[in-house]
Amino acid sequence: LEVYLRGLTGVREDLPFTFAELEARAHATLPPDIVSYVAGGAGNEYTQNANVTAFDRWGVIPRMLVGAARRDLSINLFGMALPTPLLLAPIGVIGLCAQDGHGDLATARAAATSGVPMIASTLTVDPLEEVAAQFGETPGFFQLYNPKDRAVAESFVSRAEAAGFKGIVVTLDTLQLGWRPRDLKLGNFPQLKGHCLANYFSDPVFRTKLAKPPEEDVRAAALVWASELSDPTLNWNDLAWLRSLTKLPLLLKGICHPEDAKRAIDGGIDGIYCSNHGGRQANGGIPAIDLLPTVVEAAGGAPVVFDSGVRGGEHIVKALALGASAVAIGRPYAYGLALGGEDGIVHVLRSLLAEADLLMAIDGYPTIADLNPDALHARA
Ligand code: FNR
Repeated sequence: LEVYLRGLTGVREDLPFTFAELEARAHATLPPDIVSYVAGGAGNEYTQNANVTAFDRWGVIPRMLVGAARRDLSINLFGMALPTPLLLAPIGVIGLCAQDGHGDLATARAAATSGVPMIASTLTVDPLEEVAAQFGETPGFFQLYNPKDRAVAESFVSRAEAAGFKGIVVTLDTLQLGWRPRDLKLGNFPQLKGHCLANYFSDPVFRTKLAKPPEEDVRAAALVWASELSDPTLNWNDLAWLRSLTKLPLLLKGICHPEDAKRAIDGGIDGIYCSNHGGRQANGGIPAIDLLPTVVEAAGGAPVVFDSGVRGGEHIVKALALGASAVAIGRPYAYGLALGGEDGIVHVLRSLLAEADLLMAIDGYPTIADLNPDALHARA
């Protein structure tokens, strides 16, 4: 309504309202290597595309006259009262999507403005302390790529705790980098350019591994980073160690199988993050949303965050109905950042939420508690 009313006074919104336009305009704005990095997925991108189209198999069943004039989209996640069910998924070196290269700070400011928590990647361009300083009253989460050296992992987590992050997400689906043809073609690994790894390079334990400080030899430092970034041997025997990293709420990201979800929760993990990395890692073929219901069931009441393929308000509503406790978005906000910085991200978030809110109003589901699998009809 706000947008329609502004339109009556002749003011038109310049930023897009559909993902298709958002994507097209962001691609026209960003340099080609950044487009390839953000847009690219694994293999022929079947899984990446299926993540989005799989939502079409579900339809929301309209209910009438239930008194949905007022809606409440707030949630409680690990005791944190959040105004909306959205989260900003971790995006490594998202800073590069902003014209000034400091897109992590812009994302953190958008989190402060919107109340939508940012999950800051290990690979923020700016040091995590500087990112956290922008959060205002909005809680933030820190995402860890578990490095080969446990001392570096411990250093990152204790820095995140000291900086005021309220939860830790450990990503499990990136123990190896995926086969991404778009990046392979360009020989594109933005991080290896080095200048965008300030968070990593600011870590005191990581710095002890370098022959020369990054300020003197950024290329050599980036090569050490690439060899240390992820421990491919991480396995279930390390669960107790992961748990011991922090007393903050701890989530494991990339879990899509019910047995993995159960094992994690039984091992003391606080929450599951069901995701296939937006189809960037493995072109395995199953859209993440299809796996969400069994993961939710196996999590046995523990919070389940969902991402992969969310492009519109209807997707948020469907993921919540299928049991997600909160829904994260990736590429849509990266494109909002590219087009409009902090304001661009806030625009994307507000549009997604307005669309979800109106769907809930019109179809008669006034609160998130009203959204359950009975709200959906599965088409053959
Ligand atoms: C990611 N993702 C990601 N995940 C993570 O745990 N740590 C990271 O550093 C990154 N980096 C990253 C970079 C880029 C360019 C993208 C697009 C994604 C995955 C991300 O958190 C999330 O799982 C997906 O983006 C969700 O899918 P959609 O919303 O992009 O379809």
